[in-house]
Amino acid sequence: MGILERMKLDGKKAFVTGGARGIGKSIATALAEAGADVAIVDLDIEEAKQTAEELKGLGRQAIAVKTDVTNPVEVNAMMAEIVGSFGKLDIAFCNAGICINVPASEMTYEQWKKVIDINLGGVFLTAQAAGKQMLKQGHGGSIVNTASMSAHIVNTPQPQCSYNASKAGVVQLTKSLAVEWAEQGIRVNSISPGYIGTELTLNSPSLKPLIEQWNAMSPVGRMGRPDELQAIAVYLAGDASSFATGGDFIIDGGFTCI
Ligand code: NAI
Repeated sequence: MGILERMKLDGKKAFVTGGARGIGKSIATALAEAGADVAIVDLDIEEAKQTAEELKGLGRQAIAVKTDVTNPVEVNAMMAEIVGSFGKLDIAFCNAGICINVPASEMTYEQWKKVIDINLGGVFLTAQAAGKQMLKQGHGGSIVNTASMSAHIVNTPQPQCSYNASKAGVVQLTKSLAVEWAEQGIRVNSISPGYIGTELTLNSPSLKPLIEQWNAMSPVGRMGRPDELQAIAVYLAGDASSFATGGDFIIDGGFTCI
């Protein structure tokens, strides 16, 4: 079978957390374009429904599932709803995340916990739910977690210690799950994007003024677009990446090289 054929996701069933907008929406769209049916999992159900409608326009099944990824009861209900609608789960993107930019000396413990809860706890709960379902099915699967280049470098000038720590945690969690589930054919990888133009960056009052500075620090001189993460998402989701597990894939325009 040729490589383009092996990139296809026909008949596969997927979920994407934080899939309503930004990077998650772009990944969900790519999975649907490649042939998968996709559940859009998000706190913002209205935006999730709108994204699901757009995916249906591509000729795929798509559902929107309102879930707070930090709530184990909601995550279990999410998994049950997805399996109820799609019959199985092959692909999971644990992508929902937030950033709070506060100096470490001023950060409240509540602010610290919020970021760690969503970015690391939420990835654990949703990857665990996906892994349990895949183990039950007995024919493997692919789980992809969204880490960040912040797992590898300390972003400047904005302070974001909880975010950086949470993303480093995602990379090591990914490796741990990959090793635990390798024998069962469940592959677990992470992607580590550099600065990408989304709500998180473009519409944040504290981050938007920093974009010119970030661009000056980047070898390619610009931020990335969400669509520039689509090919790696499709590659990691499907059988073309059958030997890739426990990997972290940095897509950052060379930002972490210098
Ligand atoms: P975004 O803010 O545009 O989208 C995040 C989505 O996650 C939203 O739809 C939001 O409703 C949802 N969400 C937030 N908390 C949730 C929760 N508790 N439960 C369920 N859904 C929740 O952000 P963006 O930029 O698309 O980021 C997606 C992921 O990519 C995050 O993990 C982020 O840390 C990561 N990332 C983003 C980069 C960037 O420059 N934009 C760079 C590297 C990583």
